[in-house]
Amino acid sequence: MNDLIEFDETQGLFHLHNQQISYLMAIEDFGLLSHLYFGPAVAQYHGQRRYPRRDRGFSGNLPGAEDRRFSPDTLPQEFSSSGAGDYRIPAAEIYQANGSKATDFVYQGYQILAGKPQLPGLPATFVQDQAEAATLVITLVDSVSQVALDLSYTIYRQRPIITRAVLVRNQGQTPVRLNKIASVQLDFPATDLEVISLPGAHVRERQVQREKIGYGVKSFASRRGATSHQMSNFISLVTPATTENQGAAYGIELVYSGNHALELEKDQLGQLRLVAGINQADFSWQLAPAEQFQTPEVILAYSDQGLNGLSQAYHHLLKERLVRSSWQNRPRPILVNNWEATYFDFDEAKLRPIVDQAAELGLEMFVLDDGWFGHRDNDRSSLGDWVVDQRKFPQGLTHFTNYVHQKGLKFGLWFEPEMISRDSALYRAHPDYLLAAPDRQPAPSRDQFVLDLGRADVRENIYQQMAAILATGQIDYVKWDMNRHFADLFSSALPADRQGEVSHRYMLGLYALLERLTQNFPQILWEGCSGGGGRFDAGMAYYMPQIWTSDNTDAVARLAIQWGTSLVYPPSMMTAHVSAVPNHQTGRTTSMALRGDVAMSGMFGYELDLTKLTPTEKQVVKAQIATNQQYRALVQQGDFYRLSAPETLAGCAWAFVAADRSEMLAFAFSELSQAQPVFQLIKFVGLDPQRQYQDQATQQVYGGDELMNLGLYRPVASGDFQSWRYHFRAL
Ligand code: GLA
Repeated sequence: MNDLIEFDETQGLFHLHNQQISYLMAIEDFGLLSHLYFGPAVAQYHGQRRYPRRDRGFSGNLPGAEDRRFSPDTLPQEFSSSGAGDYRIPAAEIYQANGSKATDFVYQGYQILAGKPQLPGLPATFVQDQAEAATLVITLVDSVSQVALDLSYTIYRQRPIITRAVLVRNQGQTPVRLNKIASVQLDFPATDLEVISLPGAHVRERQVQREKIGYGVKSFASRRGATSHQMSNFISLVTPATTENQGAAYGIELVYSGNHALELEKDQLGQLRLVAGINQADFSWQLAPAEQFQTPEVILAYSDQGLNGLSQAYHHLLKERLVRSSWQNRPRPILVNNWEATYFDFDEAKLRPIVDQAAELGLEMFVLDDGWFGHRDNDRSSLGDWVVDQRKFPQGLTHFTNYVHQKGLKFGLWFEPEMISRDSALYRAHPDYLLAAPDRQPAPSRDQFVLDLGRADVRENIYQQMAAILATGQIDYVKWDMNRHFADLFSSALPADRQGEVSHRYMLGLYALLERLTQNFPQILWEGCSGGGGRFDAGMAYYMPQIWTSDNTDAVARLAIQWGTSLVYPPSMMTAHVSAVPNHQTGRTTSMALRGDVAMSGMFGYELDLTKLTPTEKQVVKAQIATNQQYRALVQQGDFYRLSAPETLAGCAWAFVAADRSEMLAFAFSELSQAQPVFQLIKFVGLDPQRQYQDQATQQVYGGDELMNLGLYRPVASGDFQSWRYHFRAL
C-alpha cells in the first residue's frame, strides 16, 4: 500500500488519489477491469457507485455468463479487447498465429511501486525523488494467447496528473502481431463533454477548434510519420460551460513524435470512449515469444479551473519533469537567425556585417541556418553531407565561428539530420539509406527523402558527422530541423512481415540518436524544428527545451498560433522572432512594437537582415533587447494565463505572473481598428486579491482584486494591429 494508491481487496477497487484528483477502477465479473471515475479528489469513496446492470438488446455477454445484464459492450473499461463482444473502438488488436484476433484480457494481479520507472528507449516524464509519485501496475492476461498487458499508472503527489503507458509481453509459445496497441483508454459515463483539438497546416499550426461530440467515431490523427502541423497529439475534453478560468477540463497528451491517433466514440448509450496512442494505420509489430513492446506514455490531466488551470498543470509538468536540458531555467540567448535575411544566398563575407551589427545592437547569439554545408545553394541538394561548403567559408567554419565568438556572441548552427538529398555524397555512397519501396521511385517532397533511422548504421553515420562538428566546441546551439513527411514506408533492413514496424522503429531510432547527441553534448542549447512547428510535442521536449513554433513569423498570425500552442506547451518551449516587413509569409506590414511584443511572449530573437534596419529601427531593437533582458525570466518561468482570445472583438491578451504573484507582465493586442470602437476591458487573472500592485509605467497603485474583477480599459487603437504592455509589481 501507498498513501497515493489504495487497493480495497474485498471490493476489488483501485484508488489513485492526491489532494486534487482521484482515479478509480474495479475488478468486475470474469475479471474485467472497469473504469469507475477520473475527476476531482474523492477522499471518502465507500464503493457504492458501480456500473448499473441492465439487459441491453444486441449487447451480448461473456461465455458462461448467467447474468445477461452484464455486457462488455456497455461496461466502461480500462483497456478493452477486440472480438470479445465490445463493439466500441478497441484499445488493442492482436493477431495470433492461427489468424484469430480475439482476445479477452482479464485481471491477473497488481504491483505498487514508489516513484516512476522510466520507459526504455522512449521519452517520458520523470520524478526527482521516489516520494514524489507512485506507480500502479495492473496486469491483464489473455489466457489463450498468453499475451500479458502491464497497464501502468503514475500519480504525482502535487499535480493533477496521471501518466499511463502499456507494456505488452508475449508469454506464449507462438509469435503474435500487434495490429493496434493504445497507450490509454478512458471511458466516461453518458456525457455532454465537448472536445478541443489543435488542427492546422504548415505556417498555420495549432488553431483552437472546439466542437460538440455527437454519436459515432471521431479521430484526431497523423499518419505523416511525425506529429504534424496538421493535427497535434493533444486534445482536451470540457463541459459546455468550461471557459478559460472556470469549469472542468480533461487533457490527453501523448509523449510521442510520430504517427498518432486520439479517437473518440460516443456509444449507443451516450457514453464516451477515448482511445489514444500510436496510429494503427501504418503500424504492426511482430512479438516473438518472450518479447515485449512498450507503448509511448500519455499524460492525463484534470482541472476544475478551466483551460488556464489545465494548461498550467501541463506547463509545470513539462518544465519541471520532462525537459532535461541544463538550459531549461537558464536565460535563453537573444538570437539573430540568418534564414529570412539571406535564405541560401550567403558566404562568410556577407554574414560578417550581420554579425557586427548583432554585436553592436546587443544581441547574444548568431544562428547560421540552412545552406552552410555540401554545395547547397537551394533546397535540392546536399542533405546528408554535414561538411562545410568551402566556397561559402573558404577558411573553414571555425574561422567564422571564431569571428562570431570574438564579437561576444554565441554561435548556433542548423542541421536537418533525418534527411537525404539525391544530389549528395551520402546518397551516392549509400543509395539504400533512405526509406523507399522496392522497384518504385520514392516520392519527393521539397526534393528530399527520409533516412531510415531505424537502422543503426544510418544513425551511426549521421552521429559521426554531427559529432565531428559539435566536438570542435564551437557550437553553442543546434537547430534540429525536419522538412518533409514520410511517404515510402519500406526499410531495406527489415523482412516482408516486419514492414509495418518502419514508422515506429524510425521513432525509436530518432530518439536513440537524440539521446546520444544531447547526452554527449549537454552544454548545447538544442532547438527542435520541423518546417516550424510540425513536431511540436512532448516527445521532442524531453531532448530539447525549445522548438521553433512556426515558419509563419507574421506577428498577427502568430497570436493565434502561440495562443493555441499554449493550451498545452509553456512559453519557455516556444521560440518567436521579429522578422522583416512586409512579412514573408503573409505580406502584412506591422509595427516593430507589435512584432517585438509578440516575439517577447516566447523565447525571443530576430530573423531579418540587421544591416538593413533604419537608424530608428536600430534604436527600437536596442530597446527591445533591454526590455527582453528585463522580462525574460518572468516569461520563461512565470505562470502563463490566456486572458482574451485572438480574432475576437476584444482582441488577444495574455499575461505572465510570477510564481509568488509579486509581478505580472501582460500584453494586449488589437487587430483591425474600428470606427466607434468598443471600449475593451482587460480583466487580469492569477494575482493575489489581497495585495496592492503598482503599474511600473504610471506608478498608479491597484488592488489585486481590483485588477481582476474590475479590470482596466485598454486604450482605443488608432490604426490596425497595435499592442500594449502592462507591468505590475506587488508593493
Ligand atoms: C524550415 C525551418 C526554417 C528554415 C528552413 C531552412 O522550413 O522551419 O526555419 O530553417 O527550414 O530550409
